[in-house]
Amino acid sequence: MRAAVFYEVGKPLAVEDVELAPPRGGEVLVRIAATGVCHSDLHYIKGDLTMPLPVVLGHEAAGVVETVGPGVDSVRPGDHVVLLFAPACGHCRYCDGGRPHLCEMRYRVRGKMPDGTSRLRLGDQELHHFTCVSSWAEQAVVPESGVLPIPKDVPLTIAALLGCAVTTGVGAVVNTARVRPGTSVAVFGLGGVGLNVVQGARIAGAVTIVGIDLLDHRLEAARRFGATHAINARAGDPVQAVLDVTNGGADYAFEVIGRAATVRQAVDSVARGGVAVAVGLPPAREEMVLPGPSFVLNEKTLRACFYGSARLRDDIPRLLSLYGAGRLMLDELVTASYALERVNEAVEALDRGDGLRSILQMSAA
Ligand code: APR
Ligand code: ZN
Ligand code: ZN
Repeated sequence: MRAAVFYEVGKPLAVEDVELAPPRGGEVLVRIAATGVCHSDLHYIKGDLTMPLPVVLGHEAAGVVETVGPGVDSVRPGDHVVLLFAPACGHCRYCDGGRPHLCEMRYRVRGKMPDGTSRLRLGDQELHHFTCVSSWAEQAVVPESGVLPIPKDVPLTIAALLGCAVTTGVGAVVNTARVRPGTSVAVFGLGGVGLNVVQGARIAGAVTIVGIDLLDHRLEAARRFGATHAINARAGDPVQAVLDVTNGGADYAFEVIGRAATVRQAVDSVARGGVAVAVGLPPAREEMVLPGPSFVLNEKTLRACFYGSARLRDDIPRLLSLYGAGRLMLDELVTASYALERVNEAVEALDRGDGLRSILQMSAA
């Protein structure tokens, strides 16, 4: 199959013919239909975060089940599925505790399938898997717990977005922060994930939604997705601007960029008793710094959000209902579609902040 292989930081990805071994017990082979280009992938390409190389990236995807390994009974060939980048074992303390997105399995699989081996190879070189998804490829072998069947009338391009951006963004609002109706929300970073935080806040009933970005076209998009105020952080201190429009501080602030400095801005933007949520993945070299006494005296909270704190099998069908009811804007999110062979152009477009969300569309789909 064709796959985009990432060999070295600073070098373009190589789209090559890669061998994909058949699924083993408890695994599923999915023909990828569409896969998103997310900033989490870019963090690794730029070397801000590291993982074993070479690797096939891509973690936001949907496709059609082609074959299943022994013992798989939850999906069949022909099923349409969303790929989940947090496969869950179903029996660790986190799964048992109702937080399967934090399952122990994720911490064991670094670059491999859950059994510690790889299905990806190029000649005599073994390639690594990425988050048990590796969807920048025509096909992927994934654990059975990493696929969620969806109705066949959902466009697979839209379904792909549910694999990360939508579930993470809306989940940060409704699961991590539990935003209450009538409150004020600030969102730092209005890319594919941040715009879903904005529309999640609208759905949750926030009345003041302040979007902050460096790019005017993203600020305009945020207004379409539900922002009541849009602030260009280049125009002045964005924290002061949030304090001004929220009568002294937002009830909630979300950092959806992935930098320690903007996490600090989110913390500084919330009112007394307010909640800041770190959604973006900061570079490995950065530490987050909080203001000492004022953090305590103002009784602020800083929470982290991984994968929208979602119970994926429960949340994704509800997100699809919101989409079906016209309350979740997903068609509007996809602004560009590329063939796999053009993956490097899609990555560069993400880096520049072109459009909203780009999709790699596989030719066979
Ligand atoms: N202030 C405000 N906005 C900023 C700043 C800043 N200092 N720096 C960057 N931005 C904006 C960019 O202009 C861009 O619109 O943040 C946005 C990030 O959007 P994308 O690049 O589309 O990233 P996305 O895929 O949405 O991911 C955002 O969430 O899941 C994590 O790992 C992911 O850290 C990443 C974050
Ligand atoms: Zn992502
Ligand atoms: Zn588990």
